[in-house]
Amino acid sequence: MNEKLKFDAIEKMTVPMEPNQELQVIERAEKLARELGFDRDSIDEIKLAVIEAVINAIEHGRNAERIVYITFGLSHQPLRMTITISDSGAGFNPDSVREPDIREKINKRERKRGWGLKIMHSLMDDVIINSSPSGTQVTLIKSG
Ligand SMILES: Nc1ncnc2c1ncn2[C@@H]1O[C@H](COP(=O)(O)OP(=O)(O)OP(=O)(O)O)[C@@H](O)[C@H]1O
Ligand SMILES: [Mg+2]
Repeated sequence: MNEKLKFDAIEKMTVPMEPNQELQVIERAEKLARELGFDRDSIDEIKLAVIEAVINAIEHGRNAERIVYITFGLSHQPLRMTITISDSGAGFNPDSVREPDIREKINKRERKRGWGLKIMHSLMDDVIINSSPSGTQVTLIKSG
């Protein structure tokens, strides 16, 4: 997506890199999405994708600072919400993440992990990942 996104409002929050902090973030995401006018299914999809992205930041984005930064971009016309989840961990190369294979998981040949990014892509209209050795920014985009 190259088009520059315009917002009516931008909201920011931070959470410490600790277990269960993702719950605070989805509470805020739900409130903002409801106020914007998203339907119930879209709100649930946003919450699931946000949970996966925040847990990734907490689990994989660990660093001395131990804070996750979240920015919500809100647009009424067109109805759209973007959520950017940033950490200043060591980063990763999204192109080198292997697609999880359900058959391998059923056969227990590998750990039952590696679903977060796939879930985010399937629930959102777009997922943009910018990652470098100084941190990762995941932007989730949902249109109504
Ligand atoms: N914020 C991040 N910082 C650094 N590496 C990340 C980050 N997010 C994802 N990764 C890398 O991408 C991989 C795939 O992420 P994904 O969420 O798909 O799977 P997972 O977190 O390993 O397992 P699951 O989400 O199924 O519990 C991770 O194992 C990790 O190596
Ligand atoms: Mg994950």
